[in-house]
Amino acid sequence: MTKKMHLAQFLMHSPTYHSIGMWRHPRTAAAPFEWDRPELYQHIGKVCERGKFDMIFFADVSFISDTYTNSLAPAIKAATQSPNHDPTPLLSYIAAVTSKIGLGSTFSISHQHPFYLARLWATLDHLTRGRAAWNVVTSINHNESANYGEALMEHDLRYDRADEFIDVCIKLWRSWEEDAVCMDREQGIFADPEKVHRIEHVGRFFKSRGPLNVTQSPQSGPAIIQAGASPKGRAVAAKYADCIFAVNPSPKLAAQYYDDVKSRIANNGRDPDACKILFGVQPIVANSEQEAKEKQDYHNSLVSAEGGLAILSGHLDTDFSQVDNQQIMGESNKNALQGFGRMYSATAGRALTIEEVAMKHGQSVSLPQIVGTPKQVVDQLEAYYQTAGGDGFMLSAIYSPGAIEEFVALVVPELQHRGLFRTEYSGSTQREHLLQDD
Ligand SMILES: Cc1cc2nc3c(=O)[nH]c(=O)nc-3n(C[C@H](O)[C@H](O)[C@H](O)COP(=O)(O)O)c2cc1C
Repeated sequence: MTKKMHLAQFLMHSPTYHSIGMWRHPRTAAAPFEWDRPELYQHIGKVCERGKFDMIFFADVSFISDTYTNSLAPAIKAATQSPNHDPTPLLSYIAAVTSKIGLGSTFSISHQHPFYLARLWATLDHLTRGRAAWNVVTSINHNESANYGEALMEHDLRYDRADEFIDVCIKLWRSWEEDAVCMDREQGIFADPEKVHRIEHVGRFFKSRGPLNVTQSPQSGPAIIQAGASPKGRAVAAKYADCIFAVNPSPKLAAQYYDDVKSRIANNGRDPDACKILFGVQPIVANSEQEAKEKQDYHNSLVSAEGGLAILSGHLDTDFSQVDNQQIMGESNKNALQGFGRMYSATAGRALTIEEVAMKHGQSVSLPQIVGTPKQVVDQLEAYYQTAGGDGFMLSAIYSPGAIEEFVALVVPELQHRGLFRTEYSGSTQREHLLQDD
């Protein structure tokens, strides 16, 4: 029997996700819901639950990038993942109208203390009845640090801090034993004090006494998502993550990444299947191949070179207005997002100029565009799945709402028909969905 795929829907609480053309697209413009209204996300949550997705997931950043040209103007004009409203409150909104789908969101740890985030995520795990998933990120752009009045911490140090941060959170989530609350109304004992513990954490970066003032949540803390690509990022992900998001347009490079991370997970004494690696893709589906290609061309034409350069500059924290954009994109020396130029060139089969990379980055932030009829889209997903050895996909839309509905209506039935995707949820928590392989 084929191991079933896992599917997550990528979103941002923003007018743009991975495509900066998205907000300009007439399908987005014609939508009954605006991007800044909770009804849109409640609608998407219901659609993805109908499609039996593992989760919907929000990325998040806390800055508007001025990296390109040292000015906010290009990012503001093109809406390069900005504005970006806080997605965390949306999880409760979506939980109220769904009952199964996992609800994931990013929360950067870079300018926080573990106690606050342990408390927030335990609360969200309660409110969603065990459907919460937290994408633990360390911020990658100096603008974000500047918003908190701090300097960007060195790359590997950020991950050392992340390691300890998650460790403290886990201790806090376990500081109430599962059966601590006894609610003995007759004796007047709400919870057994013997089953609530201080954690007395004193580490390199943090001190926390504990206990958490939130009872143990259904999943004992949220499921953990990670997206680190560097050796340090992979090490942290291998230690803690229930799910890893990765982007690699080349299935061969994706396979190398997959094997490396799965062996790191095993080296940590964990079952490699306990952590799912989902690769990002941007599906563009239509009833005929020609229509799908036209859709792709039209969408891609909505991305300006300036917008592409602005988002690329922001993500690499490198100002590409300072170099000749007709130059071949070399290897980035930046510590964040190492190897970007290499990855794009490997996929294209030739070296790409900076402007070419920027355009692709504006269209899909390096997610491969999977274009065609429902059958062709499934053929491509299946081929990638088999070559990369991945556990499934993280999907990103070219317009919203609309594209996700098309995927659920047209592609999910074909995936199910080929036995590649579940037809029903067997569990009801986020971790249970991620562990459901049949
Ligand atoms: C699919 C995906 C989603 C991500 N979402 C976020 C995000 O929402 N916010 C953020 O600050 N970084 C996000 N990142 C960046 C990662 O957390 C990480 O910093 C980046 O992949 C570089 O990792 P590295 O420093 O280990 O190479 C995301 C990365 C990927 C691949």
